[in-house]
This record gives sequence, structure tokens and C-alpha cells, in this order.
Amino acid sequence: MMKLYNGKIILLGLAVFVGIVTFPFWFNMGKAAPAPVLKLDTPVIAKMPVKQCVRPTAFMKAGHMQLLNQWRDTVVRDNNRVAPDQAGVMREMSLSNTCMECHSNKTEFCDKCHNYVSVAPYCWNCHIQPKENS
Ligand code: HEC
Ligand code: HEC
Ligand code: HEC
Repeated sequence: MMKLYNGKIILLGLAVFVGIVTFPFWFNMGKAAPAPVLKLDTPVIAKMPVKQCVRPTAFMKAGHMQLLNQWRDTVVRDNNRVAPDQAGVMREMSLSNTCMECHSNKTEFCDKCHNYVSVAPYCWNCHIQPKENS
């Protein structure tokens, strides 16, 4: 009888101990880092009849940095400044003039997502960061 009682105390103690030790992990579950809500409507995007990026959205989410590198290389090495977007519209391959023309709300769009994943592109040391317009 006594033995069983002690066993229960030990199990309870153990459960409390495990709970405390793992507290930081389960306490943060689901609430540590709510995904940022990105603001996609800007004056230019609002006027688009079909709201789409230069490449499919899924690609842009994961691959916009590669696309920017590719644009840079094409401009700087091949001196070719225009290319068709996914809809076939010819666009200047430009960070400031093209991406930021549509996404004119850098702080509410690019920065919000970058802060969430802790990246800080250094591009703005040289490239003009256009005036915010959202
Ligand atoms: C012609 C306007 C336009 C241009 C130019 C443009 N975008 Fe977009 N972009 C959009 C629109 C509209 C969406 C939302 C598409 C959707 O809802 O599926 C979008 C979506 C995105 C997304 C995905 C956001 C998300 O998580 O839902 C990223 C990232 C992005 N753009 C980055 C860029 C970058 C970087 C450039 C330049 C290389 C660029 N865009 C150029 C209009 C544009
Ligand atoms: C949906 C989230 C999201 C949005 C919106 C977004 N980015 Fe990013 N961006 C990322 C992530 C994640 C990385 C880091 C990828 C990696 O390290 O592989 C990144 C990396 C980059 C890089 C490369 C940085 C480096 O130092 O290598 C550039 C340049 C960049 N983003 C530009 C932009 C611009 C410009 C916009 C707005 C027009 C934008 N991004 C919007 C998620 C986003
Ligand atoms: C040390 C300065 C410097 C930094 C930092 C820099 N660039 Fe550039 N970039 C240039 C110069 C100079 C050109 C050539 C300008 C031209 O011919 O229009 C250029 C051209 C480009 C172009 C094509 C032209 C245009 O209008 O956008 C893209 C795209 C580009 N860079 C993307 C990036 C991205 C993305 C980053 C950050 C990951 C970055 N650059 C960081 C200096 C820089």
C-alpha cells in the first residue's frame, strides 16, 4: 500500500519535472512566431486586372532571390535589360524600378517577411529604396 503511494508521488514528481523542463518548448507551440500578414495591395497592384507577380506565386515565395540574381547577371554581364514576365509582358529586370514599383510598400511586404525569417538583404546599400507608397 505504502509502496504504491510512493510510486504515485514519484510518477507525479516525474511528470511535473518533465513538464517544467520541456515548458519552453510546448509553451511556445503555435504562438512563438505567427506568420506575418503581408500587405499585397499597393496602388499599382490595385490597378492590375489580373493580380499576379512576374513569376508564379509559389516560385516567388521561395525563389525571388534567385530570380533577382539572375536579373542582375543578365543586366550586368549581358547588358540585356528586359525580359517577359509569366504573362508575357516585357519588363525591365530591375530591383528598384520593377519589383518595388508594384511592391511599393517595402516595410509592410519585403521587410515584414525578412524580419520574420531574420534575413536583411544588403541590396539597399547601393540600390535606391523607393519612397514608400501603399
Ligand atoms: C507587376 C507587379 C509586380 C511586380 C513587377 C512584382 N510583383 Fe511580386 N507580386 C505581385 C502580386 C500581385 C503578387 C501576389 C500574387 C498572388 O496573390 O498570388 C506578388 C507576389 C509576390 C511574392 C509572394 C508573396 C507571398 O508570400 O504571397 C513575392 C515574394 C514577391 N511578389 C516578390 C517580388 C519580387 C522580388 C519582385 C521583383 C523581382 C516582384 N515581386 C515583382 C506583383 C508584382
Ligand atoms: C514570403 C516572404 C518573403 C517576402 C514577401 C519577401 N522575401 Fe525576400 N527573402 C525571403 C526569405 C525566406 C529569404 C532568405 C532565403 C535564403 O536565405 O535562402 C529572402 C531573401 C531575399 C534576398 C536575398 C538576401 C541575401 O542576402 O541573400 C533578397 C535580395 C530578397 N529576399 C529580396 C526581396 C524583396 C526585394 C522583396 C520585396 C519586393 C522580398 N524579398 C520579399 C522571404 C521573403
Ligand atoms: C555594392 C553596390 C551593390 C550592392 C550591395 C548590390 N548591387 Fe545590384 N547592382 C549594382 C550596380 C552598380 C548595378 C548595375 C546598375 C545598372 O547597370 O543599372 C546593379 C544591378 C543590379 C540589378 C539589375 C539592374 C537593376 O536596376 O536592378 C539587379 C536586379 C540587382 N543589381 C540586384 C541586386 C540585389 C538583389 C542585391 C542584394 C542582394 C544587390 N543588387 C546588391 C550595385 C549593387
